Amino acid sequence: MNPDPLAEFRRVVSFRARRFLGQWEASKKLMEGATFPSTIARLYDAVRSKDLPASVKEPLLRLFERNEPRRVQDLDGEGIKSVTGLPPAKGLRALSVFFDLVPAPGSKWPMTRMSSEEAQEAVRELDNPYDLLRRTDVASVLDIGAGDLSFAEELVDLYGSDPKRQQRPFIVHCLDRLDPRSQLGGPLHANTERLQKLQRKEGLSFSFFGNQDMFKLGDLDRQELLASRYTITTCWAPATPTFAYEPTRLSKALIRSELERTKGVFSQTRFGKEQALEVRHGGRALLFPPWKFEIVGPLALLSLLAHRGLLCVLGSVDAQVFWELLAQLLEEPRYRPPDRLFNSDNLPAVFGEVYHALVGLPIGKSIDLAEVAPLRRHYLPSNSSAFMDSVAGHFRYVRISRGAIFPGTPASSTARKFASMTEEVSPWIVTLVPV
Ligand SMILES: C[S@@+](CC[C@H](N)C(=O)[O-])C[C@H]1O[C@@H](n2cnc3c(N)ncnc32)[C@H](O)[C@@H]1O
Repeated sequence: MNPDPLAEFRRVVSFRARRFLGQWEASKKLMEGATFPSTIARLYDAVRSKDLPASVKEPLLRLFERNEPRRVQDLDGEGIKSVTGLPPAKGLRALSVFFDLVPAPGSKWPMTRMSSEEAQEAVRELDNPYDLLRRTDVASVLDIGAGDLSFAEELVDLYGSDPKRQQRPFIVHCLDRLDPRSQLGGPLHANTERLQKLQRKEGLSFSFFGNQDMFKLGDLDRQELLASRYTITTCWAPATPTFAYEPTRLSKALIRSELERTKGVFSQTRFGKEQALEVRHGGRALLFPPWKFEIVGPLALLSLLAHRGLLCVLGSVDAQVFWELLAQLLEEPRYRPPDRLFNSDNLPAVFGEVYHALVGLPIGKSIDLAEVAPLRRHYLPSNSSAFMDSVAGHFRYVRISRGAIFPGTPASSTARKFASMTEEVSPWIVTLVPV
């Protein structure tokens, strides 16, 4: 955990440069003679408009406010090094990647020209956030952790034949970490009939990527198989326990002991030819994919969704993931108590008025989160190591809706199961517009 925002910034900047290889390569062009002055001017504007802690923003502004530098040597090399941790030219390239100056790979896919402000305006008026697809020049959706593809099918059934959309592209990309060859995972596997139906659907550009970790998209990006930005990124029933514990808030030891307490003792084993996770629960040994208990946390999920989407929709979020996720969306640090697990006893005290507003929300109703408590603006946190992959901007709009399914809105099979389980605590839909 790193309390110094500048040190954290350095780490994030070099992490992004390493991670977004396509943009890193392309950033070389921004350093070339004729382009260089405008690169610096763009960097200056980008820094000015970003909400960053003063200890990061001020040294960055000082670097770029000099008059018309023509080459790297005209800038304060030591200053660049101290802000980025990299030699001057590499440091500038890394900043260009960080501040999104470089066109991302995936540009063979059309991207909507709608702005984030316009998306917010539109979504405010829509009960069903997916109806944004009817209002944008490009309709594209990335569904992560797509499971049996039932959500994709419902989405395409609803919007695939929209006459208003006929002449416009409709792109649906789905991915899931389950290996289609695996014997584990049961009903979550992509359903073959659905897959074929979607692949054959006219006027739809559909792809499904199985055995694909959502946090390792580099290969797909290099092959331009994914768009760098979609009209909507969505994730239904985000996996538990993967997203139920936030590692920037909870220690590894605490998470492990909680998993053992609630799920059972677990270890890696083999199942036929494949690796598996064995969990001993109630005298039985249960088998899961080997990565089932890898804990990533909601911050990284939010970051991924926000990076890739004009609008983000998380559907059928179960209670455990929901409160952990909510803690990351609110400004005040008191919602993120270090190393304290959330449970039904402490939720009212931790979330206070937010808790009461949300649990009092009738099924089928929604709330604009900013009306209950300020939304988080500073994702350069004082104690976050996961910021390396976190949301550089923030969300301008967050709507929380209570319930598994909403009339006229596409839903996944997990959401539909939830709806029939009257004993279960109702899940949530979280609709977010990134800045
Ligand atoms: C609870 S299931 C939900 C499936 C489907 N979205 C639904 O709502 O019915 C969670 C899904 O996320 C997938 N998943 C978990 N971790 C993942 C990761 N890192 N990358 C991609 N998919 C992942 C799982 O394989 C599983 O299919």
